[in-house]
Amino acid sequence: MKSIHAVRLAERMSRLGTESAFEVLARARQLEARGKSIIHLEIGEPDFPTPANIETAAVRALRDGYTHYTPAQGLPALREAVAAYVSRTRGVEVDPDEVLIGTGGKAILYIVLTALLEPGDEVIYPDPGYPIYESMIRFLGAQAVPVRLREEAEFAMTAEDIAAALTPRTRMLIVNSPHNPTGGVLPREEVRRLAQLLADRDVIVFSDEIYSRILFEGEHHSLFSEPGMRECTVLMDGYSKTYAMTGWRLGFGVMPKELARAATQLTINVNSCAAAFTQMAGIEALRGDQSAVDAMVAEFRRRRDACLAGLRSIPGFRCQQPHGAFYMFPNIEATGYRSRELQEALLNEAGVAVLSGTAFGPNGEGFLRLSVANSLENIEAAMTRIRNWMLAHPRA
Ligand SMILES: Cc1ncc(COP(=O)(O)O)c(C=O)c1O
Repeated sequence: MKSIHAVRLAERMSRLGTESAFEVLARARQLEARGKSIIHLEIGEPDFPTPANIETAAVRALRDGYTHYTPAQGLPALREAVAAYVSRTRGVEVDPDEVLIGTGGKAILYIVLTALLEPGDEVIYPDPGYPIYESMIRFLGAQAVPVRLREEAEFAMTAEDIAAALTPRTRMLIVNSPHNPTGGVLPREEVRRLAQLLADRDVIVFSDEIYSRILFEGEHHSLFSEPGMRECTVLMDGYSKTYAMTGWRLGFGVMPKELARAATQLTINVNSCAAAFTQMAGIEALRGDQSAVDAMVAEFRRRRDACLAGLRSIPGFRCQQPHGAFYMFPNIEATGYRSRELQEALLNEAGVAVLSGTAFGPNGEGFLRLSVANSLENIEAAMTRIRNWMLAHPRA
């Protein structure tokens, strides 16, 4: 008989994390199948359709025969469009050879970290933060160094906290602004201070700017734009959030050419390229009419305001005003409930799917994440459900 150990997973798999939003969504769907009404505030994707001009461009590309492999680094015309877009929005001249197209921002993260990290390298990342950072760092055998984002600093990473975490073994700093899960945004001053702090250190910055366009106040400030920083910064951005294109799997990275060449070679080994017609749609997204993006951001802002007012009226909840992305991150410590416990109770008893802050790292304890990727009406109904449940089940 064949050995029963044929499926013996590699040791590194034990270090791989995940995103619990998918798990909560699956359980919410099971409850719905049993007839329970659930309002979904756990999902991290825009609830709007992809703008029509982008869909039309994809259909045209399919008909025009964009159904084969493209160069692994991405179609030259798309890389040119991305270079022009990043040059314009970040105020730094970018060459198309510095651009890598990937199957989502996530693929850029995976490929760049794989190309750069050695076992034992220290990587500083935000906690709470997007869970894939820690997962990838640990998977690659590098050392995960979480830096707590503080509520009193409106969840913006501070140069002071990063300075305290730096050691001679720090290889990379991951920055995410606007930030998932808190909606925190790096102010210009802090971006400057971070750039000064890193000026003469051999540290690569991975700047996750996937929410760069979903901003409610002020302007987007990127470390990539600071003098001297582009040589040591990988900028990641993409289509999923800005253009409601999560299912298209398209994103991009801008990085030094030498790294782009290595990352392209890795792309050849992993997935060859992003889908050709999707890449053609990506050109239209950047160059075409942007009014759908503006309308989406305006709607997210209305929902943020309604959700914030609702959350602040719930006993035991307090909430910072998010400045970007589409998440709320209320502090629930004063309710007397632990985050995970409240996530479960709200799902099973109140009929509202939210995520425990701990899904984003240990420093998420005491918080919940609510996504406003749902209608104003549903958000308001969810706030009433949560408030009523909390009033009926006081603990503190
Ligand atoms: C902070 C952050 N980075 C990256 C991603 C991945 O985006 P993409 O769909 O482009 O892979 C997400 C998606 O939720 C995110 O929240």
